Amino acid sequence: MQHIAIQLKDEAGTIALGAALARVLTPGLTLYLHGDLGAGKTALTRALLHAAGYAGHVKSPTYTLVEPYTIALHDHMVEVMHFDLYRMLSADDFLDAGFREYFNSDNICIVEWPEKADGVLPPADLDVFLTLAGDGRKVELVAHSDQGFQCLDQLHFAPNM
Ligand SMILES: Nc1ncnc2c1ncn2[C@@H]1O[C@H](COP(=O)(O)OP(=O)(O)OP(=O)(O)O)[C@@H](O)[C@H]1O
Ligand SMILES: [Mg+2]
Repeated sequence: MQHIAIQLKDEAGTIALGAALARVLTPGLTLYLHGDLGAGKTALTRALLHAAGYAGHVKSPTYTLVEPYTIALHDHMVEVMHFDLYRMLSADDFLDAGFREYFNSDNICIVEWPEKADGVLPPADLDVFLTLAGDGRKVELVAHSDQGFQCLDQLHFAPNM
């Protein structure tokens, strides 16, 4: 499957989508999260990490630009790197910080504000677009690779509309 559109009527919907995504994660997956300030990118990532078994606090990587988490995926430990590039000043900063090395076949990378590293950011397997829709959110998931297609094929999500 290449494209899925979902309506999330409240934050519980975002949490349910995060949990659904957590069940289809595979090592090496890169997700871009698009959407305005407050669209729900961090809320979705937090829900995904908690559903994946991370019990600690998930804060927005607003100032650190990236926060690492370790989760167990099919009995293997996998690093999830959660980026928020909003405050990154230039694409060169991305390279200088060594961020490209995090994008390998083992780590899962989730990137808020990928536009800020245009040209240097490794490509996404899955694009997630979050937009405000009334009091809730509209979400579009678009796959760009076999790994991304497989995720969407396996995604089971019953919207709480
Ligand atoms: N489906 C939903 N419907 C309504 N509100 C939601 C929904 N999902 C999340 N929210 C709310 O929207 C806000 C999302 O904030 P969040 O920090 O996740 O945004 P963000 O996209 O990461 O913004 P930023 O670009 O500033 O990092 C939270 O207040 C959360 O409660
Ligand atoms: Mg955020």
